[in-house]
Amino acid sequence: MKVLLVAGARPNFMKIAPIYRSSLKFPGVDCKIVHTGQHYDHDMSQTFFDELEIPTPAYHLEAGSGSHGVQTAKIMVAFEEVCAIEKSDIVMVVGDVNSTLACSVVAKKAGIKVAHVEAGLRSFDLAMPEEINRMVTDAISDYFFVTEGSGVENLLREGKPRDKVYFVGHVMIDNLLYQKSRLDNGRFDVTALSVYALREEKGRYAFLTLHRPSNVDDADTFQDIVSALNEIAERFPIIFPIHPRTRKMAEQFGIEFSGRITLLPPLGFIESLFLWKDAEVVLTDSGGLQEETTALGVPCVTIRGNTERPITVEVGTNVLAGTTREGILKAYRDSLRKKSRAAIPPKWDGRASEGIWEVLVREFE
Ligand code: UD1
Repeated sequence: MKVLLVAGARPNFMKIAPIYRSSLKFPGVDCKIVHTGQHYDHDMSQTFFDELEIPTPAYHLEAGSGSHGVQTAKIMVAFEEVCAIEKSDIVMVVGDVNSTLACSVVAKKAGIKVAHVEAGLRSFDLAMPEEINRMVTDAISDYFFVTEGSGVENLLREGKPRDKVYFVGHVMIDNLLYQKSRLDNGRFDVTALSVYALREEKGRYAFLTLHRPSNVDDADTFQDIVSALNEIAERFPIIFPIHPRTRKMAEQFGIEFSGRITLLPPLGFIESLFLWKDAEVVLTDSGGLQEETTALGVPCVTIRGNTERPITVEVGTNVLAGTTREGILKAYRDSLRKKSRAAIPPKWDGRASEGIWEVLVREFE
């Protein structure tokens, strides 16, 4: 069974790492990695390949940045050639970035089966590019691998065949648990991290990520969010690895962060985990961190009005804040209270990748 496993942007790399590693346990599976090049800076891309033990991709499409149309089109043109050369049985895409959409469409039109990992999630907010990517990818996928119950419900409501919807758990959590155990066993030299002196104050700082266009591309929204963050920083210092998009927009709008918010360049997975796992609270607009904080029981405030990952709010540590100053401050207080009631969602046990290959191998027999 020949499989092309596609990744393009930072949140994809954490997902393909355990899928690829697990593929090696299945002798009949020939899995090749395709990197679309949507993310290309060393600390947005190569760092993750090195740390997460992902081999060099068989193909690098070097698509780079651009408008949605330009970026998606470049990926499609280049990936069509790869499909023609490889003639694989399956193209496996993960998540909801532009690379996910581009490669699933190309594969399907080339007559190749599409497997979507992290299928069925819905924010019901079509202003999010990721929501469009999720809906289009699911509209044409053949195999749906789902992380939480809401995903199964959404797919069945949209008329997907029940026998192609597989609730396997979450590959992102496979990666998290694997890397956390390497970190706990001292398999990483984290001495470099001692530069972040705040880390010494275990549990006495907050950890922030912020990059969503709806939060940082509009000056008023961005300013309102930062005024809440500056206030939270009065109580606890905040560590903020800043995404290139966010840095660019903050400079353009002249937005000023409190001196108690430490700006860092984008971090690798391990550095980032090392910092957020002991934070008092994680403040974020990322999809993945909502889930990872739930898996480790760390309080999380999500700076968005909705989430496509409702299980993190229903049983996990996540509290939705919206994007106003008052909303964020209230959610921050609520999240600290919620911690003691949080639980781990079903099947987030580190075995999702294996489950995916078991299904596909069975389908091909
Ligand atoms: C993309 C994903 C988003 C994901 C995020 C994680 C889509 C629609 N969005 O958003 O779902 O949460 O990745 O980071 O696919 N840039 C660099 N270096 C890089 C990559 C990007 O400087 O290596 C800058 C460029 O100015 C670029 C901008 O970041 O124009 C945005 O990059 P892009 O990949 O278009 O979207 P993200 O905001 O990263």
